[in-house]
Amino acid sequence: MKILTAQGDVLEQGGGLMLIGMFQHENFREAFIGRVNDRTKDRVEKTAKHIAFEGKVGQTLLIPGGDALDVDFVLVVGLGKQADLHLDTIRNATGAAIQIARQYGLGSVVAELLGEDIETYDPLLHAKAMTEAALLASYAFTNYKDEKPHQKLVSLTLVIEDANDVQAAKKGIELAETIIDGVTVARDLVNTPGQDMTPKRLAAAATEIAKLSAGAVTVKILGRKECEKRKMGAYLAVAQGSHEEPQFIHLSYKPEKRAKKRIALIGKGVTFDSGGLSIKPSSGMETMKCDMAGGAAVLGTFATLARLRPEVEIHGIIAATENMPSDTAIRPGDIVRASNGMSIEILNTDAEGRLTLADALHYAAQQKPEVMIDLATLTGACVVALGEEISAAMSTNDELRAQILSAANRSGENMWPMPLEKNYAMLMESDIADLRNISTSRYGGSLTAGLFLKNFVPEEIPWVHLDIAGPAFAERPIGKYLGKGATGYGVRTLVEYIRGI
Ligand code: BES
Ligand code: ZN
Ligand code: ZN
Repeated sequence: MKILTAQGDVLEQGGGLMLIGMFQHENFREAFIGRVNDRTKDRVEKTAKHIAFEGKVGQTLLIPGGDALDVDFVLVVGLGKQADLHLDTIRNATGAAIQIARQYGLGSVVAELLGEDIETYDPLLHAKAMTEAALLASYAFTNYKDEKPHQKLVSLTLVIEDANDVQAAKKGIELAETIIDGVTVARDLVNTPGQDMTPKRLAAAATEIAKLSAGAVTVKILGRKECEKRKMGAYLAVAQGSHEEPQFIHLSYKPEKRAKKRIALIGKGVTFDSGGLSIKPSSGMETMKCDMAGGAAVLGTFATLARLRPEVEIHGIIAATENMPSDTAIRPGDIVRASNGMSIEILNTDAEGRLTLADALHYAAQQKPEVMIDLATLTGACVVALGEEISAAMSTNDELRAQILSAANRSGENMWPMPLEKNYAMLMESDIADLRNISTSRYGGSLTAGLFLKNFVPEEIPWVHLDIAGPAFAERPIGKYLGKGATGYGVRTLVEYIRGI
């Protein structure tokens, strides 16, 4: 979809659908009618009279165009109280317009950029948010559809009142296009079924990203043999049940100038999680192609770097493998040794993500990063705790956690802090090994998983663990701009964090 700009008054524009945002206030009806009615004779007044539309967040009013309004439909979206305006309200309003335009088969949307009378007005950020939402809302995964749905929606025009703001808006659009390209990379990877999205395919995707980066990104892939040499016993224990060869992926991005910071991004890359011998019930397995969504977020982020060129050294690490039951699979009760030397008693083979991450985190630490961030669809308990839209942030470092939460908030990804409660660490102690891979308690499963990971991160490196089991894969649409399926969760937050360094 093309995102264009125009300068002037949105009411002068023509097209399929006109999006008008309206704030909530007492005299809403008068304000709205006063604004558009001289162009629509009294039609809007008649419509508005019968509808309890106050401009509350998410309220919508769809009116046919005509008269002096050169559009097929006008969509009025409530933005709530002006003082409470958040960028995500702007994203949702834009998403609602895109959805309706698609439903009605309209070819174009014109939307006004909220004016400078708003306190928090920022043409770059507003244009960025609108572009993000439009591109996210128009995503469709059609690789496996024989009959491709006809995509009629071709353009969104952002109408900017002040000519001085056009350049900033254009910058916002370009930035959003780059970021959403990365999100789309992640969504496509996650939506691709496990039968095709094997560790080899994930590695090929990493190689492709490096190839397209014109030298900015390099990639190293370790196979089973090389991982054995590095004594990655925890990761290889998960991989041993599958004939698909594990692929340990290490992407690097180095800026031309001296790096302001070195960071490592570690993504869980279980391309399909059957549970292994501790096999999942069929309902729990249905969406388990999404278990590499953390890895996909890392790859999606790397896909943006060649264009964003941040002054940060970035390592991307994904220990990709399947988790399958077979006669070669790891058994409950087996003890393995991770590359940091710790022994782990595996009591449940479905708690496999933390095993792959143990070796991935240890490998990442050896790159001597100043910050480590891991993203993993790690626990069902996290979905129980925070629901399907919110990820959990656990960290050993208050400042880093605050930075990541703030980046998530700005980018429109929902995230909430959870503690690495040291009193619970004893729940992961084994009678006969250094650690066990599941807690001795039924409760607090996300925290104990986080505490398990903590053993593989050196204390001096600030680290944040993001459990993205909820928001990585949407079983119902989320908000107004994310449809069902893979969401690409994490890319927007990571890019926002990196841009802020
Ligand atoms: N991949 C799952 C977690 C998951 C659940 C991701 C729902 C996305 C949606 C993970 O490997 C897993 O199976 N975790 C177990 C851990 C348990 C055995 C301690 C779980 O959450 O049940
Ligand atoms: Zn599992
Ligand atoms: Zn898993």
